[in-house]
Amino acid sequence: MTTVLKSLRALSDGTRLRIIALLERDELSVQELQEITRLGQSRISTHLGLLQDSSLVQSRREGKRIFYKLNREGLRPADDLIALAIQGAKESPEFAADRINLKRILNRRQEKAQVYFNQVAGRFDRVYGPGRSWQGFGHLLLRIVPPLVVADLGSGEGLLSELLARRCRKVIAVDNSEKIVRFGAAKAKKNGLKNLEFRLGDLQNPPIDPGSVDLVILSQALHHAEDPAQAVAAAYRLLRLHGQMWILDLLQHTFEKAHDCYGDRWLGFAESDLHRWLEAAGFRKIEISIVAREEEPPHFQTVLAGGVKCRGITPVA
Ligand SMILES: C[S@@+](CC[C@H](N)C(=O)[O-])C[C@H]1O[C@@H](n2cnc3c(N)ncnc32)[C@H](O)[C@@H]1O
Repeated sequence: MTTVLKSLRALSDGTRLRIIALLERDELSVQELQEITRLGQSRISTHLGLLQDSSLVQSRREGKRIFYKLNREGLRPADDLIALAIQGAKESPEFAADRINLKRILNRRQEKAQVYFNQVAGRFDRVYGPGRSWQGFGHLLLRIVPPLVVADLGSGEGLLSELLARRCRKVIAVDNSEKIVRFGAAKAKKNGLKNLEFRLGDLQNPPIDPGSVDLVILSQALHHAEDPAQAVAAAYRLLRLHGQMWILDLLQHTFEKAHDCYGDRWLGFAESDLHRWLEAAGFRKIEISIVAREEEPPHFQTVLAGGVKCRGITPVA
């Protein structure tokens, strides 16, 4: 039987016309159609089966639920046929009630989402959000980063370097642990990141040409440096004019065990120290802020500090 004939046959029933009219703009589940029409589940399923057979309706599974909507793709009936079916449905005595019930069901769907978001308003950033992660935000933000040359000093195995390499022109990851450099380089190769180069070296004297990078990053690395001021000054020298340096580190804390537990040399830094070292190195447009505080004791706080290498500035002696 041709699609048109099948469709005509499927439309020769008042209930099926009602269903077509209900699916005109929104997809609905069997349960929702049941609530709207007050018809039994098996009756609705039978009608939907017939409508699907004749390509008037298509379905989509979401978990355990199946949603139905008018078929607007591929082998589908003529739009005129659907328009005629909806016209027919309008003449049925149930049409007005169906419309009211449809609106009610759709409002309820929307309210369900709103109830949740109203409940979490004011603490939304602290509750679990499926699929929401800083890693995801990181990938999103990277899309707006220009193709920079970056030096990631005290890079570790390259958690951040790898992320940056997906967008930046080149990333040079420097670490003084031979094992970490070997591991990081192997991982970058395995991940096909040809623009990520690991180099063995000290962040106080990084093996990178002066004036050759656009951005220096020191993420949780400065508190390992013997002389942090010297490390900041060394980073300044690597930068091209207008290049930037950003430090992510721990705000000064009193958790002495960090020396033994994490091999930290310094117990974080005061904002004033970071500012002093950045200024002394020659940085201008200095910005320093606390960007995170851990929920669990000892409540480490993360400080973000950075500056720009500006024209005509000579470092303070
Ligand atoms: C806490 S990890 C941070 C890793 C990475 N930057 C991150 O944010 O995930 C510190 C890293 O700095 C390296 N490191 C410590 N002292 C260093 C130094 N003087 N020069 C270069 N790297 C150093 C360590 O080997 C380690 O991989």
